[in-house]
Amino acid sequence: MRHVIVFGATSAIAAEVCARWAARGDRLHLVGRDPDKLAAVAARCAGAEVTTAAGDFTDLARAEALAHEGVAALGGRVDVALVAHGDLGDQQRSEHDVAEAARIVQTNFLSVIALLVPLANALERQRSGTLAVITSVAGERGRPRNYTYGAAKGALHVYLQGLRSRLYPAGVSVTTLKLGPVDTPMTVGHPKNALFATPQRAARDIDRAIARRAVVAFVPWYWRPILFVVRHTPEPLFQRLGFLSGR
Ligand SMILES: NC(=O)c1ccc[n+]([C@@H]2O[C@H](COP(=O)([O-])OP(=O)(O)OC[C@H]3O[C@@H](n4cnc5c(N)ncnc54)[C@H](OP(=O)(O)O)[C@@H]3O)[C@@H](O)[C@H]2O)c1
Repeated sequence: MRHVIVFGATSAIAAEVCARWAARGDRLHLVGRDPDKLAAVAARCAGAEVTTAAGDFTDLARAEALAHEGVAALGGRVDVALVAHGDLGDQQRSEHDVAEAARIVQTNFLSVIALLVPLANALERQRSGTLAVITSVAGERGRPRNYTYGAAKGALHVYLQGLRSRLYPAGVSVTTLKLGPVDTPMTVGHPKNALFATPQRAARDIDRAIARRAVVAFVPWYWRPILFVVRHTPEPLFQRLGFLSGR
């Protein structure tokens, strides 16, 4: 039985991952912002041993405490820690309102660091386990559509690269999960196309990536070749391709 801790467990994608892990008999500690939503996710995990804790991760001291408390709730052993929370925010507002820009960076980058600092130290002491963190293909290249959020997710990618090498000698793996668009509350107003994944598909791919201790997993896989092209498109051409560089 694995000991698993999930931050942002009420996310549509994370809730699916939790249900999969509960069905497999994992011991789960679920952490989120909204106690009612947390109770609903815990109810979906009925049958497994589940505990929950609530708090807003943008309160960095609270996030740090939630990580310490989560490790303790699992009796000091963590096999997998998944960090899943995120918020697209209001891109256009973030271009005029520094508070919104800072909130987006706090939610998608700094609050993740506040969780990862204590988690990394716990797993390093334990000399085993996996840290898995959800980032986004938006972090691969800045685009007018979502570059404040994308910058935070891109920064997270770099942070995870460094953390991975630091923890390698301790036998701890760090899995960066780069998600493409998924049909969840986060994208509710977005026009859908064939590249959108369902939360169930995303959860399946996340589960598999963590099980094989992937370094960087694109979810679904087809974003890897697509993003290779997007990343390497020369800037002058990129500006002329409205579907990439437009709002
Ligand atoms: N959906 C996509 O197209 C897509 C694409 C690429 C990457 N991602 C990433 O996938 C992850 C899961 O997102 P999702 O699509 O499942 O969206 P979602 O259902 O809207 O979930 C977002 C989650 O983040 C939590 N959250 C936001 N701010 C928080 C805060 N300050 N403190 C604690 N929790 C907070 C939300 O809590 P509440 O339930 O309390 O609101 C919610 O559980 C995120 O990291 C997101 O950036 C999503």
